[in-house]
This record gives sequence, C-alpha cells and structure tokens, in this order.
Amino acid sequence: MKTMKKKGIALMAVLLLLMTGILAGCGGSGGEDDDTVKIGLVQLVEHTSLDQIRESIIDQLEEEGYVDGENIVIDYQNAQNEQSNLKTICQGFVADDVDVIVAITTPAAQVAMGETSEIPIVFSAVTDPVAAEVVADMDQPGGNVTGTSDVISVDNIMGLAEDITPGFKTIGAIYNSSETNSVSAIEDLREYAEENSLELVESAITSANEIQSAAQNLAQKCDIVFSPTDNTVASAIATANQVFVEAGVPFYVGADSMVKDGAFATYGVDYDYLGRETADMVIEILNAADPAEMPVRTMEEMAMYINSDTAAELGIDIPQEILDQATDLAREDL
Ligand code: TRP
Repeated sequence: MKTMKKKGIALMAVLLLLMTGILAGCGGSGGEDDDTVKIGLVQLVEHTSLDQIRESIIDQLEEEGYVDGENIVIDYQNAQNEQSNLKTICQGFVADDVDVIVAITTPAAQVAMGETSEIPIVFSAVTDPVAAEVVADMDQPGGNVTGTSDVISVDNIMGLAEDITPGFKTIGAIYNSSETNSVSAIEDLREYAEENSLELVESAITSANEIQSAAQNLAQKCDIVFSPTDNTVASAIATANQVFVEAGVPFYVGADSMVKDGAFATYGVDYDYLGRETADMVIEILNAADPAEMPVRTMEEMAMYINSDTAAELGIDIPQEILDQATDLAREDL
C-alpha cells in the first residue's frame, strides 16, 4: 500500500515536470501557442476589388478548415497606399516569423519579397508577375514567392469598345506610373493604338489627388478613356467617373469592381475565384509544398461587365448582342 502511494506520487511528479516543460516550451511572446499557424495578410489600399479578394481568401481558408482565431491567426494589415507602410508591415511579419505572407497587389508583393527570401509569399492579383520581378518564370517561380495573376487583355477591352462605341480616334489613358501592373497594360495599349492608327493621350498620375485634373484634361481631348487595373485610380474611382459622365466620355476599365463603382465597361476576370485560388495555394504551402515549384495561376476565364446606369447617363445604347452576354453591374452584385 505504502509503495503504491509512493509510486503514485513519483508518477505525479514526473507528469507535473513534463507539463511544466511543455508549457514553458509553448510560452511564445504573446502567450500564443508557437504551433499556431500565423498568416500575415497585407493589402495595398482599400478599394472594392481588393476588399473582395481579401474576403474571398479568408472565406476559402475557412471553408477548407483554416478558421481565423480558432486554429489559425490572420494578421491583416492595410498600407493605405503608402510605400513606407508596406515596408513597416512586411518587416513586422518577418519579425513575427509568420508562416506565410499573403500580399494583395503588385506593390505589396514587391515590398514583401524585398523583406524575406525565407518565408513563403503568396501574392494575389499581380497583373504581370515577371515584369514586376516577383517571379523569374510563370511556371517555375524558383524562389519563395508564387501566387495568382489577374492579367487582362487590353485587346479584348478595346474590342469591346469598338463594339459598343465604334469610331473612336483618340484614347485617353489614366494610370499611376509607379504601379508596374499598370505600366504593363499601358504598353499593350500603346501597341494597340499604333496598330490601329489611333491617337493615345497618356495622363500618368502619382497619387489619387491628381485624378480630378488628369480626368478633366483627358475628357476634353479624348473620345474614350481607359484605366487598367490601377490601384490608385480604383481607390478614387468615383472622382474619375463623375468627370467622364459629365463630359459624356465612355470610361473603359480593367476590372469589374470599377464598373460596379460606376465606370462604363470592361472585359475582365472573376476576383472571387482568384481570391479562392490564392487561398488554395496558401493551404498547399502550409502542407509543405514548395513555392519555387508552384506555377503562377492565371485566370483563363474572362467576362464582359457593363453598367447600364452609366450607359443611360452617357446616352449610349449598348448593342443587344453585348447586353445578352454581359453582366450588368448596375443590377447585379460582383
Ligand atoms: N492587378 C492589380 C495589381 O497588380 C491589383 C488589382 C486587383 C486591382 N483588382 C483590381 C487594381 C481592381 C485595380 C482595380 O496590383
């Protein structure tokens, strides 16, 4: 009886020692379990499309069993379109030793990869990953960085413009020249203009404050105006829309969200799908896949989007054939 008791006490002591050992080992900085998966999620700025992408990423993670605050921690940070904020945020993720960094937009991906060559980075909606130098090759990224691309076809968008508003001679382009994503698309637009003997008037801005005057200037000179998937324009799209509607100039854009927010029309990708694909890549990496070997995913399917309220304000009749195919974002959600 006595020996039994002694043995029991000894066993308890061993268990206690083991438990304290485990607890001490787990006592990370914030009192969080060190084994908890942590995702650093950085978004360049707030606009309709990026918000939708972020929500789709989080929804898909959740649907696949990765629930923020339960079995994973998502540290979401928004840089308010400031390069210096991007840097501070990404440095914070590295100091925190997050398991994966998710970077929404080209500028966010570029800054994140400048801060770490160790932590896997999954970018989302980078228009031209090779031109942006976030991957060496679309099929063989080669480093710690891979993700999804929302590359658009400028030819298809201009084709839509020819169908709806034929006969234009002068195209205006409004974009932020420090966004590599926009510069790539504008290069395509230059080629299109040259091949079709059209005049191109470019208005490169450096911040959202310049949109109003840039738009007014283009509205006076151009038959149509185009903006690619430019984050700066998208973040202040209402200002541009107002100028172009008042001037009666159709404003063609790179993304459905911009049409939802009042621009005229686009031919673009499905960003909910893109966000979900991004989340799937994150999950693969959490399960030990190597980003170096994971091809960048591009969105093959594109669709037409129009805004019938804007068409009415511009006094444009959209051909029935287009109406039959397009999604009217004045009537439907993204
Ligand atoms: N493609 C943009 C980039 O590379 C990001 C983006 C996604 C975007 N959706 C958009 C920009 C809609 C403007 C509008 O940074």
